[in-house]
Amino acid sequence: MPVVFLAVFTWCFAFSSGLVGGVPPVPESARATIPPGIVERVRALRAEVAYHDDLYFKQAAPEISDYDYDRLKAELGRLEAAYPNITDVGAGTRLPAAIGDDRDDSWPKARHRVRMGSLDKVFTADELAGFHGTVVEAVGHEDVVYSVEPKFDGVAISLTYEAGRLVRAVTRGNGEEGDDVTPNVRLISGVRPRLRGEDWPDVVELRGEIHLRAADFAQINVRQREAGLAPFANPRNLAAGTLKQHDPSVVTERGLTVVLFGWGAWEPAADRPTTLADFQTRLTGWGLPSVPRVREVKGLMAMQAAVGAWAHEREELPYPTDGVVVKLDRVAEQLVLGEGPAAPRWAVAYKFAPNRATTRLTGVEWQVGRSGVLTPVAEFEPVNLAGSQVARATLHHAVRFAAWDFHEGDVIVVEKAGDIIPAVVEVDRLQRVAGAVAYDVPERCPSCGVALWREEDGVDVVCRNAACPGQRVRRLVHFASRAGMNIDGLGPALAERLVAEGLVRGPPDLYRLTAAALVPLPGVGPASAARLLDEIAMSRERNLSAVIVALGMPGVGPVTAAEMAVRVGSLANLAEAEEIEPVYRGWARELVALGVARRSLPADDTAPSRGPFAGDVVVFTGGLATWTRAEAGQRVAAAGGVVESRLTARTTLVVAGANAGATLIRARERGVEVIDEAELKRRLGP
Ligand code: IVH
Repeated sequence: MPVVFLAVFTWCFAFSSGLVGGVPPVPESARATIPPGIVERVRALRAEVAYHDDLYFKQAAPEISDYDYDRLKAELGRLEAAYPNITDVGAGTRLPAAIGDDRDDSWPKARHRVRMGSLDKVFTADELAGFHGTVVEAVGHEDVVYSVEPKFDGVAISLTYEAGRLVRAVTRGNGEEGDDVTPNVRLISGVRPRLRGEDWPDVVELRGEIHLRAADFAQINVRQREAGLAPFANPRNLAAGTLKQHDPSVVTERGLTVVLFGWGAWEPAADRPTTLADFQTRLTGWGLPSVPRVREVKGLMAMQAAVGAWAHEREELPYPTDGVVVKLDRVAEQLVLGEGPAAPRWAVAYKFAPNRATTRLTGVEWQVGRSGVLTPVAEFEPVNLAGSQVARATLHHAVRFAAWDFHEGDVIVVEKAGDIIPAVVEVDRLQRVAGAVAYDVPERCPSCGVALWREEDGVDVVCRNAACPGQRVRRLVHFASRAGMNIDGLGPALAERLVAEGLVRGPPDLYRLTAAALVPLPGVGPASAARLLDEIAMSRERNLSAVIVALGMPGVGPVTAAEMAVRVGSLANLAEAEEIEPVYRGWARELVALGVARRSLPADDTAPSRGPFAGDVVVFTGGLATWTRAEAGQRVAAAGGVVESRLTARTTLVVAGANAGATLIRARERGVEVIDEAELKRRLGP
């Protein structure tokens, strides 16, 4: 769950608590059947969606990404479907339309013969499996043929052809009635005034998307810049704006593109296509553009794989996409599934989490590592990427940093694809403010102020002061890390204080700490001092390979450490090993004297059975803002909890993020404790 979401979340609870008027109280009768919290959430979501609809459609100034908006809508839709009686609760207020309304006052209106729906949206592979489950249940067999195709990110359009002639082109509007933009649509290449051939229905409403191809969009922005104008931010908004232009020359100039992927009315009905492949063939025969490269697959596994393949290719596609559409290929089966209130039940849109965003550089931080190497880190205004909030990205080393030639306030593009760490992928030099100051490689260590050393290969800038507090802090944090001594509660903030106060210089000093020394530190009280000392004491029992990892010798990770542990057999032996650098030998000797790893085995992996989540069986639902589920799960497991994927009778705790749906509802029904991300963090501790 992105952070903006959390903010919105809290904010909209304030919204529903009566600060903003208009929502009548819930009648007792309705309350009785709905679990606690649900009515409030539905109300809050309705208010929230209405607010963003207004910003998006009326003010053209969205505050959240489409992805976040879609998740709000999806959650609301799910809750409304699960608790239809809540619909009555809000009666008297404006319920948000099921789909946004794109109509404006400047165009004539036209009604659709067949309603123009939206698509239900899903965000995870599990939800795709849920969709497949529904389909299988309805059609009665597993071998469902799906058509899996890109979801074009543009403006929906309906083209009515009567006896092969284009008579009308209408935007979706509210689904029933849209803006008649026929004159503009006629200017779009690919829109034929007459269908080719002879074999057309009496009436057909062809449904598709008007969009701007990546190359055309880039071209438009080149012209904008040449004319000294600000570039357009995104191709979808530009396509939407262009379609509603009243100056035909602008429409022609911008080069819109159309693609067709469905139909509304089709008369006579007997002539309708029997499969989507059949539909594509008809389009091609008529000389109209259909979706290129539809993936036709059979069954759930192949369907999920095809969705994954599109997700993988998305950056390379020549047109803008915001997801993948999965449709039942056979029309007869589509009819079995039928239509829901706002969208067909035979299709679903899988939405991509946006993984690229434009933002502004706010600084470059040079971090001293435990070996003294400085790493430049770009700091920027926070953006939501691939489902989490990002404000920093590593620039790796001085040479890569220099190549960017960053200046203060530069507009940059950042990316976080899948599990990949965030990266800066572009700097927009054209938007650089005149006179902006360039960022340079520092000459002195930002931590200790000692002059920096440039490695011979020129790549790294190094602080060679072994007493550098920055290095000491990093060494300590590494020592205490989970893979190392696993000292819970010793993070960067505390490490910094310990070093700054001169209480700790090297890792062995940790075992010399006393409560008397710790308690006076800011942010440390008697209780947390006792906890920390307890943790430190327990870390003495870590196995040898963990201790070796904790020492942080260059190039010695868990695998090498495990081999070394078996070879040397004890920490005392390691302390005498010739091939080890003197500083590490020194620490090892000290640690032995302090009773570390005295009884330890070379390696074992006993799972922790202590910690704030000891005894808990935890289930996650919905998205978290700062961690992936796997990361959060690892933390909970490290804190003694058992993480399971599904709610069962064993479950003792549910962590609910944004968009939590059925699991949250069931957990509340069963009286299982539910906490949010903030509470999760509080319990995990610093
Ligand atoms: S199928 C009549 N396929 O997404 C067909 N829709 O959010 C029903 N869209 O209303 C939709 N690419 O405007 C379909 N390959 C695709 C699409 C697609 C983009 C749009 C379309 C739809 C909206 C729903």
